[in-house]
Amino acid sequence: MKPAEIAPRDRLIVALDLPGVAAAEAMVDRLGDAVTFYKIGYQLAYAGGLPLVQKLAGSGKKVFLDLKMHDIGNTVSRGVESVAKLGATFLTVHAYPQTMKAAVEARGERLKILAVTVLTSYDDGDLHAAGYRLSVSDLVEARAQQAQVLGVDGIVCSPEEAARVHKIVGHQMHLVTPGVRPAGSATGDQKRVMTPGRAIAAGADYLVVGRPIVEAADPRAAAEAIQAEISQALV
Ligand code: C5P
Repeated sequence: MKPAEIAPRDRLIVALDLPGVAAAEAMVDRLGDAVTFYKIGYQLAYAGGLPLVQKLAGSGKKVFLDLKMHDIGNTVSRGVESVAKLGATFLTVHAYPQTMKAAVEARGERLKILAVTVLTSYDDGDLHAAGYRLSVSDLVEARAQQAQVLGVDGIVCSPEEAARVHKIVGHQMHLVTPGVRPAGSATGDQKRVMTPGRAIAAGADYLVVGRPIVEAADPRAAAEAIQAEISQALV
């Protein structure tokens, strides 16, 4: 499906950043049919959450498995084949050429690969300390271009980078942005946040939202309010 054709409701991905499968399943039950797309990251995946990918996919939900893979090509390929069998829709890999190439070749028909260009917690000093000579913005640009050439399906970036990444890769790749906060909600440890409406207007195709939903008194109402804001921004 091209990014322009995604239904507004399906553009919200709820991050199930919860300590275990029981808590995650309870949240999925509370959200009910309001939410169609979930993200499972390190915390839940390594706490027995991988079978939940199959279970959610089997019940008609989509799952973004945020494992940020990076290894030698053969290992990445075999890992991606296993993730594809779980029924996940999105999988993240770090945007190194060998890794992206191996992931794209092994992903099969349904799984889509998202590249993480430069982690948003990194600044120019962190890159320098890690041995890079490029600035964050130059490295994001170079890696987004490489991702596109290698056939990667989408890019994870901050909403602030979305417009620039679109200019580099056009509008065929999926842009997935965390760092989204409804007006008035706590930012937590996110430093550069945008409201759902502004993130969509900036070119995000999917919004990943965790705490403003899973920690809300009424998670379903919080999710539906964000979806309503997404719908308005798309008009
Ligand atoms: O709770 P919150 O809405 O901040 O959750 C955002 C989710 O997106 C978390 O699962 C976080 O790990 C993830 N993420 C992020 N920034 C990135 C990449 C992923 O916040 N650059």
